[in-house]
This record gives sequence, C-alpha cells and structure tokens, in this order.
Amino acid sequence: MADKLIIFDTTLRDGEQSPGASMTRDEKLRIARQLERLKVDVIEAGFAASSNGDFEAVQLIANSIKDSTICSLSRANDRDIARAAEALKGANRARIHTFIATSPLHMEKKLRMTPEQVLEQAKQSVRFARNLVGDIEFSPEDGYRSEVDFLCRVIEAVINEGATTINVPDTVGYAVPELYGQFLKTLRERVPNSDKAIWSVHCHNDLGMAVANSLAGVMIGGARQVECTINGLGERAGNCSLEEVVMAVKTRKDYFNLEVGIDTQHIVAASRMVSQTTGFVVQPNKAVVGANAFAHASGIHQDGVLKARDTYEIMRAEDVGWSANKIVLGKLSGRNAFKQRLQDLGVSLESEADTNAAFTRFKELADRKSEIFDEDILALVSDESVHGQSDQYHFVSLAQHSETGERPHASVVFTVDGKEVKGEADGNGPVDASLKAIESHVKSGAEMVLYSVNAISGSTESQGEVTVRLQNSGRVVNGVGADPDIVVASAKAYLSALNKLQSKADRVAAQG
Ligand code: KIV
Ligand code: ZN
Repeated sequence: MADKLIIFDTTLRDGEQSPGASMTRDEKLRIARQLERLKVDVIEAGFAASSNGDFEAVQLIANSIKDSTICSLSRANDRDIARAAEALKGANRARIHTFIATSPLHMEKKLRMTPEQVLEQAKQSVRFARNLVGDIEFSPEDGYRSEVDFLCRVIEAVINEGATTINVPDTVGYAVPELYGQFLKTLRERVPNSDKAIWSVHCHNDLGMAVANSLAGVMIGGARQVECTINGLGERAGNCSLEEVVMAVKTRKDYFNLEVGIDTQHIVAASRMVSQTTGFVVQPNKAVVGANAFAHASGIHQDGVLKARDTYEIMRAEDVGWSANKIVLGKLSGRNAFKQRLQDLGVSLESEADTNAAFTRFKELADRKSEIFDEDILALVSDESVHGQSDQYHFVSLAQHSETGERPHASVVFTVDGKEVKGEADGNGPVDASLKAIESHVKSGAEMVLYSVNAISGSTESQGEVTVRLQNSGRVVNGVGADPDIVVASAKAYLSALNKLQSKADRVAAQG
C-alpha cells in the first residue's frame, strides 16, 4: 500500500510572517475553515506566545476546527510551550511545534549559546512539551546549514524525549534538491532512533526551489510530511506552495506512489481567499492557481485541447476548483441563493447580522454590475474597509473630477470612529488625489511601498481589486479594496491599510 504524505499547512503562521500579510483573528478562522475543507492534515494556526492576538487566534481555531490537527509554534522555552498548550486546550487533536536554531551561525550570532547549551535546551523543551501534549514536532532552525554530527545528536536526543515529528527546515532557501534529499537521507540513516519519528521537510523559496527541494526530501530523504502554504505565501520569496506539491504528487502518482488526503477541488477557492485576505496577488502564470494556468492562447494548443484535452493538459482545471467564469448571481437573486453560494464557496459568516450585511452589499453591487461572479462574492465578504466592525475608518463615498490637461481633484467622505469627515485634495491622477484627500484628514505619515490593481474577473466590466502596502514606524501592512470603480477600490484599500496600521503591534518575531 502507498505511504501517506502528511500535508502540514503553515499559511497562518509562516505565511503570515510575510511583511504586510498579517491577518485578523476572524480572517484566520475563515482561512482555517477553508483548510479544513481542503482536508489539510495539520494546520499551524499561529505562534501563541508571540502576541495576545495570536494566542486568541490559535485558541479560536483550536475550538472551531474539528477535522485537522491544530498546531502552535513555540520557541524552545517553558513559557512559550505552556502558552501554546493553553491555546490548544480545546482542540480535538493538538500539536506543539517547538524549535531552536542549530547552525553554527545562528547559535553563535543570534542565540549566543554554545552547542551544548542548545542541545540541553532542545531536550528540556521537548520533555516539558511532551508532558502537556502527546503530539510534538521539533525543528532545528536553519537545520540544512547545521553540522551533521551535531544535528544527529540533537535529533536523537529529542526523539528520546518524545518528539514524534522531526522537521528539517531550509530556513534561508539555500538548498538544492539532490543535496537536500541526501542530507535528509544521511540524517535518517545516522540517527539510531530515526524510525521512531515522522520526518518532515520545510523549505523556503529564495532560489525558487522550495517545491523541488521538498519533493527531493520526500523521494530521496524519505520524509512523509511536507510543510507548505497556500500560494507559497511566506517571508521573502515565500514557502513551498501547497497546491504545487499536492498536484505534483497526485498528477505523477506513477512516480511518487504516495497518498495525499487533500480534496483538490477546494484549492482555487483557498488560493483566492488567501490572496484577497492578505493582498498578495497571485501571478497569472503561477502553476495550478494562476489565472493563465489552464488558458490555452496559441491556436495550435487550442485546437489540440478541443480535439483531445490531454494533448496539452496534464491536469483538469475542474479538479482544482476552476469553474469557467460562471455568472452565478444577479440583481434578482434572493437571500437564499446568496447564502447557498456563500456556502458553496466555503464562506461561513459568523452571525445572521453578518450575512444580512453581506447580502445588502451584494444587492448594492448587483445594482451597479449586472453579472456577479464567484470572485465578486469573495471580494465582497473580505472587503474589510466596508464592514470590519472594530475598524476606525470606514469608506462612505467619493467624488472626483479629472479631465485631460487639468489637475484631478477628489473629495472623499469616510467615518472616523463613527463620525463622518470629508477630505479634499488635488493629485497627479484621480487615485493619487483620492488618497491624498484621505491623508489630508488622517495625517498618518505612512509611506506607500506598493500599489497594485487587478481586475477580479478579467474584463473592464469586472471589479478592480486594489492592494495598498503602507509602512510606518517599522510596520508594514497590506490593505485590500474592491469596487467596479478603481478609484473607489483604491480609497477602500487605503482605509483598510490605515485600519491595520492602527491595530496594536505587540508581536514577537518567530525567528527572533
Ligand atoms: O523556516 C524555519 O526555520 C521555520 C521554523 C520556525 C520551522 O519556519
Ligand atoms: Zn519557515
């Protein structure tokens, strides 16, 4: 029988560490629900000791998700581990993932600890964690750049203390496939008790090889767990992408001969949800989930696919959840149809009041746009600038004037803590004028480090989805806004980013 490959998703932890990708508790729960629908085996829900917000998010997810194991990251110290265990109390199946760096560089320069001290701390932490939770994962951070002899000693010791999964991170994305696979193989051969744990791969994508390295770790190194994120979200160039690893293993079952439990039909919805929540747009030519991944533009290819799909298609678009841009709802659609569509898309709103508010926004949109696609509905429910309950700023309305040869002018009405205000400004273009109009009132002083517009469903009739990335006092946040009018979408995105800047930043860096 084929071995099972465990899919460990860390979108909500390592993915969230990507600058500007931080998510609210409710956004995390929504994504966790989608991961459960995907049948992800383990969800790393956060790093409970890093902030009260992260603790609450891990707790909420642990209490709500029933089918996946819920995991919290934790540094290798008793306080972090106890906090993780506390947050995970309500989980059906809980895992603590504890880590400490083992490379000479990290031990000397970052931890300022000797190898013997690191070994002792790793042992003591796993022992402590094992008394709280049965399922313990240990990661030697920067494992791939660690000395093999020392790493073998650490891994043997933590397995003796009760670690059930050993994860070997390529923290800085330095590995190449064959060498990483061989590295894992060597470790497994040299650690005497290696058969007492499941081995796992965790690869970053700095050289664009995270997926290839992970698969080499599986095939050459014998790993049976892959750590990955939706859309490959993660710090710097990101992590190994879940959809690519899963579809590689499924499509090339002849080679990998492994079972994965993922329900692939939910992949595209998960990708959109993560992209719309974080503001990290998916590149069109991204494998599996990019808008062009299944589009055949050349005449020769189109002809071939029409005659027999497998001439140019190795996977079926439907199998990963692509539906041909269907018009799903319109102006006359009722509340029940809307609710049903939300359910089909895997969106569960927390209360009846939230559903009513979303339905009102849907009706407003349907008045302005005759065809409503799934993408519109997803944008509508993740449009925080309109409905984030605790947010300081809410968009109300916008007027702008632009004409060739004249300097555009905009006035924007929005609320600040419930009180309506109006800002006015000129700018280089209507978007610039609108954002300056908001800024004339807010005076955040934030620096804009990214502005991008994306057509949600492909044509000029579609809604524009805007991402604005702001930086202020060392914090980076992304705001997302959607509207058929891209100037309005830009104003919403700007307000959404300002709201995120307002929220408290008391997080401890995971690799700090
Ligand atoms: O990349 C890394 O080393 C990590 C660990 C904390 C597992 O994310
Ligand atoms: Zn990582």
